[in-house]
Amino acid sequence: MTAEDQKKAAAIAALEYVHPGARVGLGTGSTANHFITALAEKVKGGLDVECVATSRASFQLASRLGLKMTTLEKQPHLDVTVDGADEFDANFQLIKGGGGALLVEKIVATSSRYMVVIADQSKKVETLGKFPLPVEVVPFGVNATGWKIDRALRICDLQGKLKLRLKDGKPFVTDSGNAIIDVSIGAIPDPRRLDNLLKSIPGVIDHGLFIDICGVVLMGTDDGVQTFRKG
Ligand code: A5P
Repeated sequence: MTAEDQKKAAAIAALEYVHPGARVGLGTGSTANHFITALAEKVKGGLDVECVATSRASFQLASRLGLKMTTLEKQPHLDVTVDGADEFDANFQLIKGGGGALLVEKIVATSSRYMVVIADQSKKVETLGKFPLPVEVVPFGVNATGWKIDRALRICDLQGKLKLRLKDGKPFVTDSGNAIIDVSIGAIPDPRRLDNLLKSIPGVIDHGLFIDICGVVLMGTDDGVQTFRKG
């Protein structure tokens, strides 16, 4: 099975978490796209759901496939959000934001009763941090915010390499108009501590550590989809 097949299998398995009439948060990225496509097939077959997208890209795909879209303003409480991840560990802690949608993904996921993560098996890690941690920052004073991020890392006894994310040679701009600093750390033994320190920095809007948000992970493997459920 290729990674793509595993993502697709996990996405199809996630349909079980969508009941008729559900309000569903739609994640962002290649795995979430498989879910959006599978959900749209179900809707064609008669399932009635309303969806909130976590990015312009997901909104466009979902609308094009005929999903009924709403907003978090109209529906502030969602039943379930199904999204991908860049990494997850045994404590259901995640790194997200490789696609740059982490802020809206976190808002939508925490507005949902359940967050279900769908992933191929390469996303499972013992310790988070191999994937560079995306930190969404206000463009104003980006270098000053950068050194405060660096200081937060040192307080946690970590070392990181900070890199402003670029697209086509220019600073990447998130759907919310912010910049992203990708922080290569290697291993984050205490993600909760780093989460708190990063959140206290003026200029940091949010970051890709998702702590105590995800309750279920569906991981595609060569032998089928493995389910991890919290508690
Ligand atoms: C988007 O900002 C991310 O959080 C994605 O959910 C994450 O990068 C996983 O993407 P893939 O499903 O494409 O690996």
